Amino acid sequence: MIATTQQNMTTELDLGSSDGPPRNWKGIGIAMVVILAVMSLVILSVVILTPDESHLLLRSHLTMEDLESDEFKVHDPCAAWLNNNEVALRTREGHVLTFTLKNNLTTTLLDNSSLDLTSAKFQVSADKRFVLLAYNIQPVFSQSFTASYAIYSVANGDLLELSPLERETTELQYASWGPQGNQLAFVFDGDIYYKPNAASNPLRLTSTDEDQKVVNGLSDWTYEEEVLLTYAAHWWSMDGARLAYLRINNSATPVMEIPHFLGGLYPSNMIFPYPKAGSSIPSVSLFVVNLYGPAHTLEMLPPDSLRARENYISMVSWISSTRLSVRWLNRAQNQSVLCVCEATTGACSEDSLMKRMLRVLHNVLHFMKNPSFHNDLQRFQRSPQNRASLFYQLVELF
Ligand SMILES: *[C@@H]1O[C@H](CO)[C@@H](O)[C@H](O)[C@H]1NC(C)=O
Ligand SMILES: *[C@@H]1O[C@H](CO)[C@@H](O)[C@H](O)[C@H]1NC(C)=O
Ligand SMILES: *[C@@H]1O[C@H](CO)[C@@H](O)[C@H](O)[C@H]1NC(C)=O
Ligand SMILES: *[C@@H]1O[C@H](CO)[C@@H](O)[C@H](O)[C@H]1NC(C)=O
Repeated sequence: MIATTQQNMTTELDLGSSDGPPRNWKGIGIAMVVILAVMSLVILSVVILTPDESHLLLRSHLTMEDLESDEFKVHDPCAAWLNNNEVALRTREGHVLTFTLKNNLTTTLLDNSSLDLTSAKFQVSADKRFVLLAYNIQPVFSQSFTASYAIYSVANGDLLELSPLERETTELQYASWGPQGNQLAFVFDGDIYYKPNAASNPLRLTSTDEDQKVVNGLSDWTYEEEVLLTYAAHWWSMDGARLAYLRINNSATPVMEIPHFLGGLYPSNMIFPYPKAGSSIPSVSLFVVNLYGPAHTLEMLPPDSLRARENYISMVSWISSTRLSVRWLNRAQNQSVLCVCEATTGACSEDSLMKRMLRVLHNVLHFMKNPSFHNDLQRFQRSPQNRASLFYQLVELF
């Protein structure tokens, strides 16, 4: 059997060689050499370019504990400008510092030993003598939160709990320094309180008779999420002498109920005023309170065209120490009126200058977020609030 097979193969080979063209053994040899050379180059480059991974084997793998470590935590410095030349910030260790840009000087305002500052919010007073600390922070809507507040004295390290005089409770809706010295305002139970300085007793500026549906100086859901887009709805004049604030009354607004599933057997419900098409909207009024001397409050009266109708206040900003620019908007949001209000009398005028401006520029004004005024009130400028349309417009009024 074996002999026969071998014989057959020999026969076939012989046949092949005798039939086909003669083989170019030299060409085949050269091709083989080239192929071998290319293959060895490929192998060589793979060997050379492969990174050395032996050191990786020595390192341990990522674990859940690693994710809890500082290395993987985002550090929020809460940086804020104090003036043109100084920034307040929090270090990773929790110290609060001021940093002066001109000379690279760092000053420690607050050491991390006095409080666990990593989860607290802080704000430095205008004169840099006190730091306001917010802790036990409970978020409400997208920006709003309730918290307990304490005032830290940089000079002697004392901590003073912030609370309304008549109450022991410490959970406030809002607190913040004013633009001068260490004056301060806070909101508790829908009412604004004012402290002329950090050590003085708080003065109650508004009283709403425990009515949970009225809030002074803060946005409700509608104003926070849809109208002003800020939580604070009060504005200090630059000299700290006056405070303008909104009173938002939701007595007639229907409420929304949202169940919160927070681990308990039954959900807890969050209930808040939430207007829908056709229902009542929050009614809003603007007041200015005098802070220096005896506190007295004046309402800024809306223009005649909007007075008796449902309206929004979509912008308030001080343009001098006694004048405000205010924009009212009708409910359909197709008519807006930009007024200048006199804080000393409560009169808001859209006549003369403003009316002329409105007639010419109605459309520009309607979509403008926050115009800023030149000191002499002759020109105003659109500020770059909205990233989608980042452009300036300087408008000459005469
Ligand atoms: C406070 O800062 C020091 C370093 O300055 C740091 O070693 C310590 O861990 C910090 N304490 C806290 C609670 O972060
Ligand atoms: C401040 O520090 C930065 C970075 O270290 C340096 O470039 C700059 O020259 C310094 N400025 C002064 C005034 O020392
Ligand atoms: C809020 O509005 C209701 C009517 O909707 C009114 O009766 C009530 O007096 C208002 N409250 C305040 C504090 O203005
Ligand atoms: C605003 O809209 C309302 C309701 O759609 C309409 O009746 C009114 O005429 C509009 N006003 C202006 C100034 O366009």
